Amino acid sequence: MLVKTIKKKNKNYKPIWFMRQAGRHLPNYQKLRKKHNTFLNFCLTTSSIVEATLIPIKEYDLDAVILFSDILILPWTLGQKVSFIKNIGPQLSNIDYKTIALKSDVNLIDVLEPIGTAIKQVKSKIPISKDLIGFAGAPWTIACYMIEGGTSKNFEKIREILWNDERGFLEFYDRLTNKVIDLLEYQVKCGVDVLMIFDTWSHMIPSVYWQKLGIVSMATIVEELRRRGVLVPIIGFPFKAGEKLVQYSYESKVDVVSVDWSMDLKWVLNNINKHVVTQGNLDPIALTTENTQSLTKAVTEILDITKDKVHIFNVGHGLTPKTQIENVKKTITLVRTGTQ
Ligand code: CP3
Repeated sequence: MLVKTIKKKNKNYKPIWFMRQAGRHLPNYQKLRKKHNTFLNFCLTTSSIVEATLIPIKEYDLDAVILFSDILILPWTLGQKVSFIKNIGPQLSNIDYKTIALKSDVNLIDVLEPIGTAIKQVKSKIPISKDLIGFAGAPWTIACYMIEGGTSKNFEKIREILWNDERGFLEFYDRLTNKVIDLLEYQVKCGVDVLMIFDTWSHMIPSVYWQKLGIVSMATIVEELRRRGVLVPIIGFPFKAGEKLVQYSYESKVDVVSVDWSMDLKWVLNNINKHVVTQGNLDPIALTTENTQSLTKAVTEILDITKDKVHIFNVGHGLTPKTQIENVKKTITLVRTGTQ
């Protein structure tokens, strides 16, 4: 019911799913994770991708599943070494941004075959009432990891390159943007029903570059996908973009704007493009609480604020490992009973 609600602009039904719903708060995920010595190996094994993608709908009454994958698969396909280290996070080998992804001979389709097969299998296993979400990182967020080599406090390396060598950086950025388009097109060709583009580090874009790197690149992705005949709804998530979310809602060309937990949802709804659907923005930490009253209040508030809007219920960033299964179930029941 996710795609149907977006396309029909249905205000009376609130679809629900959770970012990072397949992740570490579920014991079945942990069991499956143990079968693979590296996370990358997990992400490239068709049977495990399918199983992990389906775990959340075995546990919860959700409107959609999100493909089990990671935004850092893309740098890996471009030849960068990517590893995920427990308690540290992703680590990527050093690259020369001037040369990486220059070679158009990286045949994404060959490398991504295990993922494409998984998409087809998931589609054959889920009921038609549920949608499959494909995704990619936005060029800025992927570039942050590729250049910085991992997570960073202020992403100073990438900003240094931007100020020192704007031209070289922008050439790299364009090549990366094209790869994001190819990846998303491939996922749609294999069968995903919706696309989501995560810009987790959008708040690290220097303000004067926001238009170019945060918005124009998104509009390019959406326009090129449309030109290639991709018709599925596209969700954009510029995490912690603050007031810039308004411009993003008008100019990025996405169909749905995902709102993070730091934003005042009422303010967002009053200020953004009225033609854009919203998603979000429950604080994922509210789902770790023992205080179910505070959770009920927060969920009810979102339902109240979005009563007359086309809105997808979700968290304002990914679920964390401390998420309580009972809290997720309670939230789903509240959303279902509040809207049926
Ligand atoms: O349920 C889902 O949402 C599906 C899968 C999914 C993962 N990563 C699996 C994953 C999705 C949509 C992502 C997106 C992703 N990956 C983003 C954008 C969204 C966001 O959360 O901001 C980013 C920035 C990444 C990069 C990434 N991958 C980091 C920083 C980490 C390590 C830190 C962490 O949260 O664990 C990963 C690893 C990762 N990706 C895990 C999962 C389930 C944990 C790996 C493990 O189990 O060992």
